Parts: sequence; structure tokens; C-alpha cells
Amino acid sequence: MPHPETWWKDAVVYQIYPVSFLDSNGDGFGDLNGITSKLDYLQDLGVNVVWLSPIYKSPLADMGYDISDYRDIDPRYGTLDDWDKLLAGLHGRHMKLMMDLVVNHTSDEHAWFEQSKSAKENPKRDWYIWRPPKYDVDGNRRPPNNWKAQFQGSAWEYDETTDEYYLHLYHTKQPDLNWENPDVRQAVWELMRFWLDRGCDGFRMDVINLISKVEGLPDAPITIPEDEYQDATEFYANGPRVHEFLQEMHSKVLSQYDIITVGETPFTHSASELARYVLPANKELNMVFQFELVDLDSPRTAQRMPFIHRPWKLSEFREIVGRWQTFKRDEGFWNAVFIENHDQGRSVTRWGNDADAWRVLSAKMLAMLEVTLGGTQYVFQGQELGLRNFPRSWGIEEYKDVASQNIYHEILEQRRKRESGGTGEEDSQIDMSDIMDGLQMKARDHGRIPMQWDATGHAGFTTGTPWMRVNDDDYPHWNAALQLDDTSSVRSFWKNALRLRKEHQVLIYGDFQDLDPQNEDVFAYTRTYRGVRAVVALNFTSKDIVFNLPSGEIMPGISPLFGNYPVGNGDVQGNELKLRPYEGTVYLSTPDTAT
Ligand code: GLC
Ligand code: CA
Repeated sequence: MPHPETWWKDAVVYQIYPVSFLDSNGDGFGDLNGITSKLDYLQDLGVNVVWLSPIYKSPLADMGYDISDYRDIDPRYGTLDDWDKLLAGLHGRHMKLMMDLVVNHTSDEHAWFEQSKSAKENPKRDWYIWRPPKYDVDGNRRPPNNWKAQFQGSAWEYDETTDEYYLHLYHTKQPDLNWENPDVRQAVWELMRFWLDRGCDGFRMDVINLISKVEGLPDAPITIPEDEYQDATEFYANGPRVHEFLQEMHSKVLSQYDIITVGETPFTHSASELARYVLPANKELNMVFQFELVDLDSPRTAQRMPFIHRPWKLSEFREIVGRWQTFKRDEGFWNAVFIENHDQGRSVTRWGNDADAWRVLSAKMLAMLEVTLGGTQYVFQGQELGLRNFPRSWGIEEYKDVASQNIYHEILEQRRKRESGGTGEEDSQIDMSDIMDGLQMKARDHGRIPMQWDATGHAGFTTGTPWMRVNDDDYPHWNAALQLDDTSSVRSFWKNALRLRKEHQVLIYGDFQDLDPQNEDVFAYTRTYRGVRAVVALNFTSKDIVFNLPSGEIMPGISPLFGNYPVGNGDVQGNELKLRPYEGTVYLSTPDTAT
């Protein structure tokens, strides 16, 4: 049996972005008590595990992915007592809690870093990655190498106290921990046990494939000559000791608990590389979040431009899905099925069609894709409502994410210089519409917008002033309260779809086969498990399409399981399947008739 069935494989994991979920005390920030008050909503949807994006103490330079105390809750979100209550509420409903583990870096306000930067002799000096400056021919102080940070600029920040630079792959306020130091690893194991012993049921591990850097931290090759700093992911993604470190984590911590683990592994599309984290024989993690699918609509250029939208083809999309669905199944590779999270634009906008006419249908069609793929199911807050990106008319000031702000201002600066002939002084009318187009489609902000609970002020998210603007044109007619009362809503559809997934193990565990890899309109595939076969057909276009099923796929005894149109379920005549715009349909064969 390549795939022993386990609770974390069957599970539906719901990701909460706490700051935007529900504010219980009117300060404009979502909080733990807000989440606790919505546990019935989550249970009703069919959620088994709640994953919380970070709620630890943090200056919020990167919205909590910059942690200043791993063992305490940020006062904006509540207290440890509130956390205990949330956990009790979840466990009382037979749900579990997964925490975000952010240990590639800390906040620069973490006590470890404050000690580390205080003196070269400090015992915590080596807990971070410090290097002396370089000097150019003119004697100007330069960073130790040319690595570029993910949020723009150099990956090194100079600190006057000791006249050295520290490495930060992300924000300057997110110094990277030095995992080479065994004391750092020990401290991480201890903080993991702190939460596990308090009752948490697993971890989502932030950028966990970046914890080991190539020895010597060499300069990156120059791929973008006009840039001062260069992409260096090859020197820190899946670095030389990462598997050793994760195996140590497994033996020291993970193996001692019955938990769910998922590693976030950006900058890596190589399946064999990622397999090492997941294959049970390696004793590392249960699964990873790999980004090949959600990176599909980014330009294929040397320079990473995740904020620019590239038109994509269904043949590319299905090739990626199919490859991962079938990858090393016999060795136990297990997928994490997701299409949204707090770092992504909304799926109905990017992969469906969020125009009023098609929003409901295409959001449901994408839900059908998700629930009929093999792996552990992840749903991001608001995805179950078909929330869409906020409008193009919003200005850059509504984008709160540091990544959006930095990229916008860096490009603005470049254009300013270019247009004023290098003097950089003239602040003329600089056209930034292309960048705003990209951000409207791709910015992380769209996933971070306050949840749309009802039609009252600020979408019922807060009685105060929300930390981020709510989608004010949208929420009065598009919110959870309306959808809960409507059996034809996206929310009702998700609930039913998640229930069907649990009732039919073929949808979780079945072997995947693409029925027509070159087809640019209809994504059709089968899943087969223990004599049961599901046939799935999804029309990704706004046209009527006739899809020819390969003969033999529709057998006597096959019957419709579900679909996203109010009447009928994909009209089959012979081998012809007629699909209406964005129609999705799933058929199931009974064990007796399946081959
Ligand atoms: C992960 C998080 C993202 C964060 C980054 C740095 O990619 O999902 O939100 O900015 O790590 O911690
Ligand atoms: Ca609050």
C-alpha cells in the first residue's frame, strides 16, 4: 500500500490570516477571540485543521513573519490564555490547530538578535550571520556579497555597533538565523516542544528550505547587469545541510508527536529536489507547499517578477497539476493541494473569471478542481466565499504589504531617474499603470484583505477602523451571512464538495490520469482507487464546449456525483460531454462496474 490512510491526509486544513479574520474588540486588528467565536462556522464548512499564520509577538514589519518572541502572543491578537481557549474550542469540536513556525529568521527586535548585535564577543553573536564589510577601489563600504533580498535591495544590513553586516534574505527587520550553530537548532527544537506540549497539533514551516546557506556565501552570478544586487536563491534554497537539519528536527521533535507538518519551499520547481523533504523514507516532513502551479502566471524571465501577470495556457496548468499528482506515488510522495494563501492573489481572479457573470460558476469550478485532486486539502480564508481581488481603482496607498510597497517604489525610482536623464530630481507624471495592473492581479495584499462576514459596516470584520481597507464595493452583496442562507452560494457549494471528498476516498487517494493533455479548454481527468473511478471534467472557458471522452471512460453504471450548474450535470451523449461555460462535472462509477 503506497498510501496508508492517515488523518492528516484526509484532513481539510483552513488557513486563517489572523489580522484579517475577525476583530473582537474594535481595535481594527483581527484577534484570537474573533477566531474562537467563528469555530462553528469552520466546523460547519467541514474544516478539520486550522492553520494560523503567525500570532506571536512581532513588530509586524512583515505582518508577523518577523517574530520577536516565539513563546508569547502579540497583544494585538490576545494572550496565551486566549490561545488556550481557542485550542480547547477546536479540540472540543474534534478539530486541530496548526501553528506557523518561522525559524529561518527572527525579528531584529528578538532578544537573541539584540544580544547578537551588541558585541562580537557576545555568546549569541554566532546565532546570526555576520560578516565584515567589503571596500571598493574608492574605499566605499560595500556589503559582503551581491545577494539581493526578497523585498528588494541588498540582503545585508550594516550595523554600526560592531561595524559588520548581518544577512537578511527578506526584510531588513528579519535577520536570518545561523542554523550551522547547534545552539540555534536546540533553541528551535525547544520552542517547537513548547507549543506541542501546550497542545498544538502541527506546524506549517515558513521558507524552511532556506535554512542552510552555501558555505562561503559567494557572490551570485550577474543575471541582471543593470541591478546592483543579484538573485542568489541557488546559494540558499535547498542548501547543503537542509536535509540534515530537518532529519535532526524529525528525530529530536517531530517523531515524538502525532502531528501534521508542511514545509513551505519557495524558489524550487525541481520535483526530485522537493521529494527529499517529503518521501517517508527520509523522515523529514509530511508534505511541502511548492509553488510551481501558482507561479505559472509569472513571467519566465531571469528576474523574478511575481507581481507581473503572464497569460497562461490550460495545457501548461494541467501539465503541472498532472506531474505532481503522479509524482513518486509508489514511494509515498504526498501533495499539499492549494491554490490560495496569504501570499497570493485570489484564485477566482487569477485562474477563473471574476466578472459578475462568471464569478460564482468559476469559483465553484475551481473548488471542484481542488476537492478532486489527491493530497491534503488547504482552503484559505475567504476562498470558500469566492472572494475576488480588490479593484484596479485602488491606489498604491491601499497596498499594505511591504513587498508591494517596495517593488512599486523601487520601480518608480528607476523610472524617475531614467526620465529625468539620471538626475533623479524631477518628479514628473511617471506612468506606473503596468505595475498597478500587475499588483491588482498578483499582489499578496488581495489575500490579506479583511474577511467579508456580513453587510454591516466594514463587512462585519470590525466595529473600529480596519487595519486595511475592506473591499467596500463588494462586501454588501458578497459576504458569509448571505452565502450561509443561500443553498446555491459558493460557500454552500464548498461545504457540499468537502463533504463529498470525505465520503469518497477515491478523491483523496486515487491515481490520477489526464484524459486530454493538449486540450486548452477542458481539464478532464480520472481518479481511480480500489475499483472506484471518478471522472472529472472542468470547462475553463466562458464558451459552450463539447468534450469527447475517450471511449471506455464512461461506462454503464457511472452516475453524476456533483456539478456546479443549478440544473443538470454535464450532458453526456455517447462519448460526447456537453459543458456550459465554466461548467464542472464529476461522475463516479460504482465498484461493480469499474474496470
Ligand atoms: C513566507 C511567508 C511570507 C513571508 C516570508 C518571509 O513566504 O508566507 O508571507 O513574507 O515567508 O517570512
Ligand atoms: Ca482586535
